[in-house]
Amino acid sequence: MALITQAPRGTQDVLPETSYKWQYVEQTALSIARDFGFHEIRTPVFEHTNLFQRSVGETTDVVQKEMYTFEDKGGRSITLRPEGTAGAARSVLEHGLLSGALPVKVSYVTSCYRYEKSQKGRYREFHQFGVECFGASAPQADAEVISLAIQVLKEMGLKGVALRLNSIGCPTCRARYYEALQAYFTGRQSELCGTCLSRLERNPMRILDCKSPVCHGIAAEAPVVTDYLCEDCAAHFVAVQGCLSAADIAFTLDPHIVRGLDYYTRTVFELVAEDGLVVCGGGRYDGLVEELGGAPQPGLGFGMGIERLLMVMEAQNAPFPEAPTCDLYLVSMGQAAAQKCFALATALRDGGAAVECDIVGRSLKAQMKYADKLGAKFTIVVGDNELENGVAMMKDMATGESQEVSLDDGLYTVLRQKLLDRELAGVTDLFAEVAEIG
Ligand code: HAM
Repeated sequence: MALITQAPRGTQDVLPETSYKWQYVEQTALSIARDFGFHEIRTPVFEHTNLFQRSVGETTDVVQKEMYTFEDKGGRSITLRPEGTAGAARSVLEHGLLSGALPVKVSYVTSCYRYEKSQKGRYREFHQFGVECFGASAPQADAEVISLAIQVLKEMGLKGVALRLNSIGCPTCRARYYEALQAYFTGRQSELCGTCLSRLERNPMRILDCKSPVCHGIAAEAPVVTDYLCEDCAAHFVAVQGCLSAADIAFTLDPHIVRGLDYYTRTVFELVAEDGLVVCGGGRYDGLVEELGGAPQPGLGFGMGIERLLMVMEAQNAPFPEAPTCDLYLVSMGQAAAQKCFALATALRDGGAAVECDIVGRSLKAQMKYADKLGAKFTIVVGDNELENGVAMMKDMATGESQEVSLDDGLYTVLRQKLLDRELAGVTDLFAEVAEIG
Protein backbone atom coordinates (compact mmCIF):
# COMPACT_ATOMS: atom_id res chain seq x y z
CA MET A 1 0.00 0.00 0.00
CA ALA A 2 1.41 3.38 -0.94
CA LEU A 3 1.10 6.20 1.56
CA ILE A 4 -0.51 9.30 0.13
CA THR A 5 2.20 11.57 1.50
CA GLN A 6 5.19 11.93 3.83
CA ALA A 7 6.30 14.52 6.38
CA PRO A 8 7.28 17.75 4.57
CA ARG A 9 10.96 18.30 3.77
CA GLY A 10 12.88 19.82 6.66
CA THR A 11 10.52 18.45 9.34
CA GLN A 12 11.04 15.51 11.66
CA ASP A 13 8.73 13.25 13.60
CA VAL A 14 9.79 12.58 17.17
CA LEU A 15 8.76 8.99 17.83
CA PRO A 16 7.91 7.51 21.24
CA GLU A 17 11.28 5.73 21.38
CA THR A 18 13.09 9.11 21.47
CA SER A 19 10.53 11.56 22.83
CA TYR A 20 11.66 10.92 26.40
CA LYS A 21 15.05 12.38 25.44
CA TRP A 22 13.32 15.56 24.25
CA GLN A 23 11.31 15.73 27.46
CA TYR A 24 14.49 15.32 29.48
CA VAL A 25 16.34 18.10 27.62
CA GLU A 26 13.37 20.49 27.67
CA GLN A 27 12.44 19.94 31.31
CA THR A 28 16.07 20.16 32.48
CA ALA A 29 16.65 23.38 30.53
CA LEU A 30 13.45 25.00 31.84
CA SER A 31 14.27 23.93 35.37
CA ILE A 32 17.80 25.41 35.21
CA ALA A 33 16.25 28.61 33.81
CA ARG A 34 13.88 28.64 36.82
CA ASP A 35 16.87 28.47 39.16
CA PHE A 36 18.18 31.62 37.44
CA GLY A 37 14.76 33.30 37.90
CA PHE A 38 13.48 32.82 34.33
CA HIS A 39 9.87 31.58 34.17
CA GLU A 40 8.12 30.04 31.22
CA ILE A 41 6.17 32.11 28.72
CA ARG A 42 4.06 30.59 25.92
CA THR A 43 3.23 32.67 22.88
CA PRO A 44 1.38 31.82 19.65
CA VAL A 45 2.96 29.84 16.84
CA PHE A 46 1.86 32.58 14.45
CA GLU A 47 2.01 36.35 14.75
CA HIS A 48 1.23 39.32 12.52
CA THR A 49 3.96 39.47 9.88
CA ASN A 50 4.96 43.06 10.71
CA LEU A 51 6.21 41.90 14.13
CA PHE A 52 9.06 39.98 12.49
CA GLN A 53 9.63 42.58 9.79
CA ARG A 54 10.18 45.23 12.49
CA SER A 55 12.21 43.13 14.93
CA VAL A 56 14.18 40.55 12.97
CA GLY A 57 14.56 43.14 10.20
CA GLU A 58 13.46 43.65 6.58
CA THR A 59 16.91 43.03 5.11
CA THR A 60 17.73 39.80 6.97
CA ASP A 61 17.77 36.42 5.22
CA VAL A 62 15.11 35.26 7.68
CA VAL A 63 12.59 37.93 6.64
CA GLN A 64 13.59 38.22 2.98
CA LYS A 65 13.82 34.53 2.14
CA GLU A 66 12.80 32.19 4.92
CA MET A 67 9.49 33.12 6.51
CA TYR A 68 6.35 31.02 6.20
CA THR A 69 3.97 33.90 5.49
CA PHE A 70 0.38 33.59 4.36
CA GLU A 71 -2.83 35.56 4.27
CA ASP A 72 -5.49 34.26 6.65
CA LYS A 73 -9.17 34.10 5.77
CA GLY A 74 -9.61 37.60 7.17
CA GLY A 75 -7.00 38.99 4.77
CA ARG A 76 -4.33 39.54 7.48
CA SER A 77 -0.70 38.75 6.78
CA ILE A 78 0.35 36.06 9.22
CA THR A 79 3.76 34.44 9.74
CA LEU A 80 4.78 31.26 11.54
CA ARG A 81 7.38 32.39 14.09
CA PRO A 82 10.92 32.03 12.73
CA GLU A 83 12.34 32.56 16.25
CA GLY A 84 11.22 33.15 19.83
CA THR A 85 12.44 36.63 20.80
CA ALA A 86 9.98 38.79 18.86
CA GLY A 87 6.89 36.99 20.22
CA ALA A 88 8.21 37.11 23.80
CA ALA A 89 8.93 40.85 23.50
CA ARG A 90 5.50 41.50 21.96
CA SER A 91 3.83 39.54 24.73
CA VAL A 92 5.58 41.16 27.72
CA LEU A 93 4.81 44.57 26.20
CA GLU A 94 1.18 43.77 25.39
CA HIS A 95 0.55 42.53 28.94
CA GLY A 96 2.31 45.45 30.59
CA LEU A 97 4.91 43.28 32.32
CA LEU A 98 7.56 45.90 31.71
CA SER A 99 5.64 48.40 33.88
CA GLY A 100 6.08 46.11 36.88
CA ALA A 101 9.21 44.99 38.71
CA LEU A 102 12.25 44.75 36.47
CA PRO A 103 13.99 42.78 35.18
CA VAL A 104 11.37 40.57 33.57
CA LYS A 105 12.94 37.17 32.90
CA VAL A 106 11.17 34.64 30.70
CA SER A 107 12.06 31.26 29.22
CA TYR A 108 10.46 29.13 26.52
CA VAL A 109 10.60 25.97 24.47
CA THR A 110 9.07 26.64 21.07
CA SER A 111 8.87 25.36 17.55
CA CYS A 112 10.26 27.74 14.90
CA TYR A 113 9.79 27.81 11.13
CA ARG A 114 12.26 28.90 8.48
CA TYR A 115 12.19 27.98 4.80
CA GLU A 116 15.87 27.05 4.68
CA LYS A 117 17.81 24.59 2.55
CA SER A 118 17.48 21.50 4.72
CA GLN A 119 20.76 19.86 5.67
CA LYS A 120 22.43 18.32 8.73
CA GLY A 121 21.39 20.41 11.73
CA ARG A 122 19.27 22.76 9.62
CA TYR A 123 15.54 22.16 9.46
CA ARG A 124 12.44 24.01 8.33
CA GLU A 125 10.65 23.20 11.55
CA PHE A 126 13.02 23.22 14.50
CA HIS A 127 12.80 23.82 18.22
CA GLN A 128 14.48 26.29 20.50
CA PHE A 129 14.93 26.53 24.20
CA GLY A 130 15.41 30.21 24.88
CA VAL A 131 15.44 32.89 27.53
CA GLU A 132 14.81 36.63 27.35
CA CYS A 133 15.60 39.23 30.00
CA PHE A 134 14.06 42.71 29.79
CA GLY A 135 15.07 45.80 31.76
CA ALA A 136 18.68 44.93 32.64
CA SER A 137 21.50 46.89 31.05
CA ALA A 138 24.35 45.98 33.42
CA PRO A 139 27.12 43.74 32.06
CA GLN A 140 26.29 41.20 34.79
CA ALA A 141 23.03 40.51 32.91
CA ASP A 142 25.01 39.51 29.80
CA ALA A 143 27.23 37.25 31.89
CA GLU A 144 24.18 35.74 33.66
CA VAL A 145 22.44 34.83 30.41
CA ILE A 146 25.64 33.34 28.98
CA SER A 147 26.32 31.36 32.14
CA LEU A 148 22.76 30.00 32.05
CA ALA A 149 23.29 28.69 28.50
CA ILE A 150 26.58 27.11 29.55
CA GLN A 151 24.99 25.58 32.66
CA VAL A 152 22.37 23.86 30.47
CA LEU A 153 25.03 22.38 28.19
CA LYS A 154 27.05 21.31 31.22
CA GLU A 155 24.05 19.58 32.78
CA MET A 156 23.54 17.73 29.48
CA GLY A 157 27.10 16.44 29.77
CA LEU A 158 28.37 18.20 26.64
CA LYS A 159 32.11 18.59 26.24
CA GLY A 160 34.25 20.83 24.07
CA VAL A 161 31.67 23.58 23.48
CA ALA A 162 33.36 26.95 22.88
CA LEU A 163 31.92 30.34 23.80
CA ARG A 164 32.57 32.91 21.07
CA LEU A 165 31.95 36.49 22.06
CA ASN A 166 31.71 39.83 20.30
CA SER A 167 30.16 43.27 20.64
CA ILE A 168 28.43 44.88 17.68
CA GLY A 169 27.89 48.23 19.42
CA CYS A 170 24.92 50.58 19.39
CA PRO A 171 23.41 52.76 16.63
CA THR A 172 26.08 55.41 17.35
CA CYS A 173 28.99 53.03 16.69
CA ARG A 174 27.01 51.46 13.87
CA ALA A 175 26.84 54.72 11.85
CA ARG A 176 30.65 54.93 11.58
CA TYR A 177 30.93 51.19 11.00
CA TYR A 178 28.36 51.25 8.19
CA GLU A 179 30.41 53.90 6.41
CA ALA A 180 33.51 51.71 6.60
CA LEU A 181 31.59 48.67 5.39
CA GLN A 182 29.99 50.57 2.54
CA ALA A 183 33.39 51.83 1.39
CA TYR A 184 34.82 48.29 1.55
CA PHE A 185 31.94 46.49 -0.17
CA THR A 186 31.49 49.20 -2.83
CA GLY A 187 35.04 48.35 -3.90
CA ARG A 188 33.95 44.73 -4.47
CA GLN A 189 30.42 45.48 -5.65
CA SER A 190 30.72 43.51 -8.90
CA GLU A 191 31.30 40.26 -6.95
CA LEU A 192 28.33 40.52 -4.56
CA CYS A 193 25.08 38.56 -4.98
CA GLY A 194 21.88 40.43 -5.93
CA THR A 195 20.48 40.39 -2.38
CA CYS A 196 23.72 41.79 -0.95
CA LEU A 197 23.83 44.53 -3.60
CA SER A 198 20.48 45.74 -2.27
CA ARG A 199 21.81 45.46 1.30
CA LEU A 200 24.81 47.65 0.50
CA GLU A 201 22.79 50.85 0.86
CA ARG A 202 20.20 49.79 3.45
CA ASN A 203 22.06 47.49 5.83
CA PRO A 204 25.65 46.59 4.86
CA MET A 205 26.13 44.53 8.06
CA ARG A 206 23.76 41.89 6.68
CA ILE A 207 26.27 41.18 3.90
CA LEU A 208 28.49 39.77 6.66
CA ASP A 209 26.14 36.84 7.28
CA CYS A 210 25.10 36.15 3.67
CA LYS A 211 25.10 32.39 3.05
CA SER A 212 26.48 32.70 -0.52
CA PRO A 213 30.09 31.39 -0.47
CA VAL A 214 31.38 34.29 -2.64
CA CYS A 215 29.87 36.98 -0.38
CA HIS A 216 31.08 35.01 2.63
CA GLY A 217 34.65 35.08 1.30
CA ILE A 218 34.50 38.83 0.64
CA ALA A 219 32.99 39.44 4.10
CA ALA A 220 35.86 37.60 5.80
CA GLU A 221 38.20 40.50 4.94
CA ALA A 222 35.77 43.32 5.74
CA PRO A 223 36.45 45.83 8.55
CA VAL A 224 35.47 44.45 11.98
CA VAL A 225 32.93 46.16 14.19
CA THR A 226 35.03 46.10 17.37
CA ASP A 227 37.34 48.69 15.79
CA TYR A 228 34.39 51.11 15.68
CA LEU A 229 32.85 50.76 19.16
CA CYS A 230 32.01 54.01 20.98
CA GLU A 231 33.45 54.55 24.46
CA ASP A 232 30.32 53.33 26.31
CA CYS A 233 29.98 50.17 24.23
CA ALA A 234 33.68 49.39 24.52
CA ALA A 235 33.51 49.80 28.33
CA HIS A 236 30.39 47.62 28.52
CA PHE A 237 32.09 44.92 26.48
CA VAL A 238 35.19 44.97 28.70
CA ALA A 239 32.96 44.72 31.78
CA VAL A 240 31.09 41.71 30.34
CA GLN A 241 34.41 39.98 29.76
CA GLY A 242 35.44 40.87 33.32
CA CYS A 243 32.29 39.25 34.75
CA LEU A 244 32.81 36.10 32.70
CA SER A 245 36.45 35.83 33.75
CA ALA A 246 35.52 36.39 37.40
CA ALA A 247 33.23 33.35 37.16
CA ASP A 248 35.87 31.29 35.31
CA ILE A 249 33.80 31.18 32.13
CA ALA A 250 36.24 30.77 29.25
CA PHE A 251 35.55 32.61 25.99
CA THR A 252 37.18 33.51 22.69
CA LEU A 253 36.73 36.94 21.17
CA ASP A 254 35.46 36.59 17.62
CA PRO A 255 34.94 39.91 15.80
CA HIS A 256 33.25 38.07 12.92
CA ILE A 257 30.16 37.15 14.91
CA VAL A 258 27.46 39.62 13.87
CA ARG A 259 24.38 37.32 14.10
CA GLY A 260 21.78 37.21 11.36
CA LEU A 261 19.01 39.22 13.02
CA ASP A 262 18.75 43.02 13.04
CA TYR A 263 17.70 43.62 16.62
CA TYR A 264 21.10 42.92 18.18
CA THR A 265 23.16 45.62 19.89
CA ARG A 266 26.35 45.33 21.95
CA THR A 267 27.10 41.79 23.23
CA VAL A 268 26.54 38.90 20.84
CA PHE A 269 27.66 35.33 21.41
CA GLU A 270 27.52 31.80 20.09
CA LEU A 271 28.19 28.42 21.66
CA VAL A 272 29.87 26.20 19.13
CA ALA A 273 30.35 22.43 19.33
CA GLU A 274 33.61 20.74 18.32
CA ASP A 275 32.28 19.96 14.83
CA GLY A 276 31.46 23.64 14.23
CA LEU A 277 27.72 23.29 14.84
CA VAL A 278 26.30 26.39 16.53
CA VAL A 279 24.08 25.03 19.30
CA CYS A 280 23.20 28.38 20.82
CA GLY A 281 23.17 32.00 19.74
CA GLY A 282 22.15 35.17 21.50
CA GLY A 283 22.92 38.65 22.61
CA ARG A 284 21.60 42.06 23.57
CA TYR A 285 18.80 43.90 21.81
CA ASP A 286 18.59 47.22 23.64
CA GLY A 287 16.49 48.88 20.89
CA LEU A 288 13.92 46.12 20.32
CA VAL A 289 11.29 47.09 22.89
CA GLU A 290 11.21 50.65 21.57
CA GLU A 291 11.11 49.39 17.98
CA LEU A 292 7.94 47.50 18.88
CA GLY A 293 6.30 50.63 20.29
CA GLY A 294 7.18 50.33 23.97
CA ALA A 295 9.06 52.74 26.23
CA PRO A 296 12.78 52.03 25.79
CA GLN A 297 14.01 49.06 27.81
CA PRO A 298 17.17 47.06 27.30
CA GLY A 299 16.91 43.35 26.63
CA LEU A 300 18.97 40.26 25.95
CA GLY A 301 18.69 36.51 25.63
CA PHE A 302 19.59 33.43 23.63
CA GLY A 303 18.07 30.62 21.59
CA MET A 304 19.39 27.07 21.77
CA GLY A 305 18.56 24.62 18.99
CA ILE A 306 17.13 21.48 20.58
CA GLU A 307 17.69 19.27 17.50
CA ARG A 308 21.31 20.39 17.39
CA LEU A 309 21.76 19.91 21.12
CA LEU A 310 20.43 16.35 20.86
CA MET A 311 22.64 15.66 17.83
CA VAL A 312 25.76 16.69 19.75
CA MET A 313 24.64 14.74 22.83
CA GLU A 314 24.17 11.59 20.74
CA ALA A 315 27.51 12.08 18.97
CA GLN A 316 29.29 12.47 22.33
CA ASN A 317 27.41 9.59 23.96
CA ALA A 318 26.20 12.00 26.62
CA PRO A 319 24.19 10.30 29.38
CA PHE A 320 20.40 10.26 29.02
CA PRO A 321 18.12 8.99 31.76
CA GLU A 322 16.82 5.45 31.24
CA ALA A 323 13.89 5.15 28.84
CA PRO A 324 10.73 4.84 30.91
CA THR A 325 9.44 1.27 31.01
CA CYS A 326 6.48 -0.60 32.36
CA ASP A 327 6.78 -1.46 36.08
CA LEU A 328 4.36 -4.37 36.03
CA TYR A 329 2.57 -6.29 33.28
CA LEU A 330 -0.52 -8.21 34.37
CA VAL A 331 -0.96 -11.30 32.22
CA SER A 332 -4.49 -12.73 32.23
CA MET A 333 -6.04 -16.07 31.21
CA GLY A 334 -9.77 -15.85 30.53
CA GLN A 335 -12.39 -13.13 30.75
CA ALA A 336 -12.76 -13.05 34.55
CA ALA A 337 -9.00 -12.79 35.02
CA ALA A 338 -8.81 -10.05 32.38
CA GLN A 339 -11.39 -8.07 34.34
CA LYS A 340 -9.49 -8.59 37.60
CA CYS A 341 -6.23 -7.50 35.93
CA PHE A 342 -7.92 -4.38 34.61
CA ALA A 343 -9.22 -3.53 38.10
CA LEU A 344 -5.78 -4.14 39.65
CA ALA A 345 -4.07 -2.04 36.96
CA THR A 346 -6.50 0.83 37.59
CA ALA A 347 -5.82 0.80 41.35
CA LEU A 348 -2.04 0.50 40.93
CA ARG A 349 -1.95 3.32 38.33
CA ASP A 350 -3.91 5.45 40.76
CA GLY A 351 -0.97 5.02 43.11
CA GLY A 352 1.45 6.17 40.40
CA ALA A 353 2.82 2.83 39.16
CA ALA A 354 3.34 2.21 35.43
CA VAL A 355 1.14 -0.84 34.89
CA GLU A 356 -0.19 -2.49 31.76
CA CYS A 357 -2.53 -5.37 31.05
CA ASP A 358 -3.85 -7.07 27.94
CA ILE A 359 -6.22 -4.96 25.83
CA VAL A 360 -5.87 -6.96 22.63
CA GLY A 361 -7.22 -10.34 23.73
CA ARG A 362 -3.92 -12.19 23.25
CA SER A 363 -2.98 -15.69 24.34
CA LEU A 364 -0.92 -16.22 27.50
CA LYS A 365 2.23 -16.82 25.46
CA ALA A 366 1.69 -13.75 23.31
CA GLN A 367 1.08 -11.60 26.41
CA MET A 368 4.32 -12.85 27.98
CA LYS A 369 6.21 -12.07 24.77
CA TYR A 370 4.69 -8.59 24.67
CA ALA A 371 5.56 -7.94 28.34
CA ASP A 372 9.14 -8.90 27.52
CA LYS A 373 9.20 -6.56 24.51
CA LEU A 374 7.92 -3.71 26.67
CA GLY A 375 10.76 -4.31 29.08
CA ALA A 376 8.32 -4.82 31.97
CA LYS A 377 10.21 -5.01 35.26
CA PHE A 378 7.73 -7.45 36.84
CA THR A 379 4.95 -9.71 35.58
CA ILE A 380 2.08 -11.51 37.30
CA VAL A 381 0.04 -14.23 35.60
CA VAL A 382 -3.61 -14.35 36.71
CA GLY A 383 -5.73 -17.39 35.83
CA ASP A 384 -8.63 -19.29 37.47
CA ASN A 385 -6.48 -20.63 40.34
CA GLU A 386 -5.07 -17.20 41.18
CA LEU A 387 -8.55 -15.70 41.06
CA GLU A 388 -9.89 -18.32 43.39
CA ASN A 389 -7.03 -18.11 45.92
CA GLY A 390 -6.46 -14.35 45.65
CA VAL A 391 -2.72 -14.86 45.36
CA ALA A 392 -0.30 -15.09 42.42
CA MET A 393 3.42 -15.20 41.66
CA MET A 394 5.14 -11.92 40.80
CA LYS A 395 8.19 -12.51 38.63
CA ASP A 396 11.21 -10.23 38.50
CA MET A 397 11.96 -10.23 34.77
CA ALA A 398 15.62 -9.33 35.24
CA THR A 399 16.54 -12.05 37.77
CA GLY A 400 13.81 -14.59 37.04
CA GLU A 401 13.01 -14.76 40.78
CA SER A 402 9.36 -15.11 41.82
CA GLN A 403 7.50 -14.14 44.97
CA GLU A 404 3.95 -14.83 46.09
CA VAL A 405 1.76 -11.72 46.26
CA SER A 406 -1.88 -11.18 47.21
CA LEU A 407 -4.14 -9.77 44.52
CA ASP A 408 -5.55 -6.97 46.66
CA ASP A 409 -4.49 -3.60 48.10
CA GLY A 410 -1.34 -5.25 49.49
CA LEU A 411 0.00 -5.64 45.95
CA TYR A 412 0.71 -1.93 45.70
CA THR A 413 2.94 -1.95 48.80
CA VAL A 414 4.88 -5.00 47.60
CA LEU A 415 5.37 -3.57 44.10
CA ARG A 416 6.53 -0.18 45.43
CA GLN A 417 9.03 -1.87 47.75
CA LYS A 418 10.34 -4.08 44.93
CA LEU A 419 10.77 -1.05 42.65
CA LEU A 420 12.59 0.83 45.39
CA ASP A 421 14.88 -2.16 46.01
CA ARG A 422 15.71 -2.22 42.30
CA GLU A 423 16.50 1.49 42.27
CA LEU A 424 18.70 1.16 45.35
CA ALA A 425 20.50 -1.81 43.79
CA GLY A 426 21.11 0.39 40.72
CA VAL A 427 22.62 3.14 42.87
CA THR A 428 24.78 0.61 44.76
CA ASP A 429 26.01 -0.77 41.41
CA LEU A 430 26.81 2.75 40.28
CA PHE A 431 28.82 3.41 43.46
CA ALA A 432 30.70 0.15 42.96
CA GLU A 433 31.46 1.14 39.33
CA VAL A 434 32.66 4.61 40.39
CA ALA A 435 34.82 3.08 43.15
CA GLU A 436 36.34 0.71 40.59
CA ILE A 437 37.14 3.55 38.18
CA GLY A 438 38.46 5.71 41.05
P1 HAM B 1 19.39 32.10 15.88
O1 HAM B 1 20.88 32.13 15.88
O2 HAM B 1 18.73 32.38 14.59
O3 HAM B 1 18.91 33.13 16.98
O4 HAM B 1 18.89 30.70 16.39
C1 HAM B 1 19.29 30.22 17.65
C2 HAM B 1 19.67 28.74 17.56
O5 HAM B 1 18.59 28.02 16.97
C3 HAM B 1 20.85 28.46 16.63
O6 HAM B 1 22.07 28.63 17.32
C4 HAM B 1 20.61 27.00 16.29
O7 HAM B 1 21.08 26.17 17.33
C5 HAM B 1 19.10 26.92 16.22
N1 HAM B 1 18.64 27.04 14.82
C6 HAM B 1 18.49 28.16 14.07
N2 HAM B 1 18.03 27.86 12.85
C7 HAM B 1 17.90 26.52 12.81
C8 HAM B 1 17.46 25.58 11.80
N3 HAM B 1 17.04 25.98 10.62
N4 HAM B 1 17.45 24.27 12.13
C9 HAM B 1 17.86 23.84 13.35
N5 HAM B 1 18.26 24.67 14.33
C10 HAM B 1 18.29 25.99 14.07
C11 HAM B 1 17.60 33.34 17.31
O8 HAM B 1 16.68 32.73 16.88
C12 HAM B 1 17.42 34.38 18.38
N6 HAM B 1 15.98 34.57 18.63
C13 HAM B 1 18.15 33.99 19.64
C14 HAM B 1 18.02 35.02 20.71
C15 HAM B 1 17.14 35.01 21.74
N7 HAM B 1 18.72 36.13 20.78
C16 HAM B 1 18.31 36.84 21.84
N8 HAM B 1 17.36 36.17 22.41
